[in-house]
Amino acid sequence: MMASSMLYSANMPLSMPRMLRVRASNTNDNVPIKKMGMSDAECEAAVVAGNIPEAPPAPSKPAAPAGTPMVPSLSLRRRPRRNRRSPILRSAFQETSLSPANLVYPLFIHEGEEDTPIGAMPGCYRLGWRHGLIEEVSKARDVGVNSIVLFPKVPDALKSSTGDEAYNENGLVPRTIRLLKDKYPDLVIYTDVALDPYSSDGHDGIVREDGVIMNDETVHQLCKQAVAQARAGADVVSPSDMMDGRVGAIRAALDADGFQHVSIMSYTAKYASSFYGPFREALDSNPRFGDKKTYQMNPANYREALVETREDESEGADILLVKPGLPYLDIIRLLRDNSPLPIAAYQVSGEYSMIKAGGVLKMIDEERVMMESLMCLRRAGADIILSYFALQAARCLCGEKR
Ligand code: PBG
Repeated sequence: MMASSMLYSANMPLSMPRMLRVRASNTNDNVPIKKMGMSDAECEAAVVAGNIPEAPPAPSKPAAPAGTPMVPSLSLRRRPRRNRRSPILRSAFQETSLSPANLVYPLFIHEGEEDTPIGAMPGCYRLGWRHGLIEEVSKARDVGVNSIVLFPKVPDALKSSTGDEAYNENGLVPRTIRLLKDKYPDLVIYTDVALDPYSSDGHDGIVREDGVIMNDETVHQLCKQAVAQARAGADVVSPSDMMDGRVGAIRAALDADGFQHVSIMSYTAKYASSFYGPFREALDSNPRFGDKKTYQMNPANYREALVETREDESEGADILLVKPGLPYLDIIRLLRDNSPLPIAAYQVSGEYSMIKAGGVLKMIDEERVMMESLMCLRRAGADIILSYFALQAARCLCGEKR
């Protein structure tokens, strides 16, 4: 696979040949012009003497359709269309690129042996951790996606109000990480740090009797969860819970256990969004009551993302994440312009499902809208993108159509 074929250009047809061929003329006449055996000096002398060799005439002006109005040309110094007039010029001046290396593939896992389709997310499955998952990861690696993030569907019987299963070293996630690392030592494994898949209340934190989500007590649990994931071999732990102070506390807990090399990707600006609906169906993790508005951010807020950014930076986050993605491009740009840290964007379940649904209904071209949405997240300033489209998009980037 050529490296250049991994770069996507919005201007190129999706099933692009590996190389663009440049033709000097429009004819198919590829017969080379015969040499006359003349020296350079003889060629120059011939031209000076007025014996100009033949070359094609200047191209004629293409005709406009009948009825085209005759107008004086606008006197414009700048015609931006000049730089867009051919595929080669367009790709030369393309400002943003997308490669499989930018993608992180979120995968749902469960204890079962079969893969269970997720109704609200066509094409996504709860994968059997020992079978389907391994195959899916192998397919992703084949097209250059070497980073995944795991989301477990936890049996109800293991859920509790304090979410203690989250740090069971033999729980589904740590077990799966160990298996994956054994098979694919160079795979980069991101984990989700939050209590919701383990909470009988479906909340990211411990819920007090009066409904309040307890901050510091939750952070205590999250630290244990992150350390359990690191012990299993996680490369990047990703707190998505939005408790205050969790990045600093997790950093300290990891370091105390000898995991200085494990990174923290903080969900810095995670909004209380309805775009998470399909995900909660996938994990059966809908809050049993209430909503997540006392910890996730208000979708109406912009400046508040800077408050979170400053905290996460000073607490030692390695990567800052914005979530959801496409409806929050301004927030991605805000973080990009205000922090030197790498920025991640999460194209969440609702964004994925809308594109899938639009495609199935033939209202939009699924593949093109998918590629455009990913490119736009990159343009807004995301270094990496968590997307359920990661495999499909990477196949597309590699010139494979499925
Ligand atoms: C839970 C978590 C959620 C998502 C990722 N981690 C759901 C939530 O906060 O309710 C959503 C991802 C998606 O919708 O694709 N901590």
